[in-house]
Amino acid sequence: MAEVIANVEVAPNIYRLKASGAFPGRMGQFYMVRAWDSYPLLSRPLSIFNRSEEGIEFLYQVKGEGTKLLSDLRAGDELQLEGPFGNGFPDRAIKPGGRIAVVGGGIGIAPLYYALRSWPDCDVYLGFSKEPYLTEQFKAATQGKVNVNVGGFVLDEVDLHAYDLIVACGPEPMLAAVQQKKLLSGSGVEVYVSLENRMACGIGACLVCSVKCRDTRRKACTDGPVFLAEEVIFG
Ligand SMILES: Cc1cc2nc3c(=O)[nH]c(=O)nc-3n(C[C@H](O)[C@H](O)[C@H](O)COP(=O)(O)OP(=O)(O)OC[C@H]3O[C@@H](n4cnc5c(N)ncnc54)[C@H](O)[C@@H]3O)c2cc1C
Ligand code: FES
Repeated sequence: MAEVIANVEVAPNIYRLKASGAFPGRMGQFYMVRAWDSYPLLSRPLSIFNRSEEGIEFLYQVKGEGTKLLSDLRAGDELQLEGPFGNGFPDRAIKPGGRIAVVGGGIGIAPLYYALRSWPDCDVYLGFSKEPYLTEQFKAATQGKVNVNVGGFVLDEVDLHAYDLIVACGPEPMLAAVQQKKLLSGSGVEVYVSLENRMACGIGACLVCSVKCRDTRRKACTDGPVFLAEEVIFG
């Protein structure tokens, strides 16, 4: 059980929620979150936006019942957290001088901020359909460049040949486009996508989060949510 420290609307329907406690977790992992007893039945998966020994933060968009209930939380309210789950972003060392980029579309920026702790000079590409948010925080957290695109295609601005490793999170059409771009580029860059499939149990027991991959079906909650882009069959 955690106690809510703050729950602030940073843009229309986008909230930054902070709860107290030394919750562990690596970049790209997620927690199953709830702030209700029996209804809705299921907890909701949210990526780690930021964490420290004092607290953990989530950045979420209000979509339906669960996230609406989260948005009603106030300082002092209780939050139930289970996790961390998932494989997270690849954290092996890349070759000395290797270049990394993270690419986020909309609320897909949520898991990328925490990655800047591990990759403090990586380049950041943020795409928004309307009003951008938290761009100044991203700028302050990296020594790399931060490219913000509003209303266009953020991917158009990413030169795959400039990087050794790219991690992308966002709507599925964006992730499918990243995969296509990688396949057509002939570049040696390793591209990973972080999927946000619907989930139920979060621990590999229900198959709700099944992902079609080239060799077999995998579970986004335990085998992912981060996959090598070319492994995933989109659509
Ligand atoms: C590993 C993982 C990490 C995630 N991290 C974040 C995060 O950091 N911030 C964040 O805002 N969201 C994140 N999500 C998505 C988030 O879990 C859903 O938006 C949330 O569960 C919706 O719950 P709800 O009760 O508000 O909506 P519901 O009432 O369950 O659904 C409302 C509407 O949203 C659609 N919807 C629900 N879940 C998803 C989904 N996963 N993908 C696409 N459409 C969906 C439904 O089809 C429906 O139309 C993550 C998902 C996964 C799997
Ligand atoms: S959410 Fe149940 S198996 Fe992944």
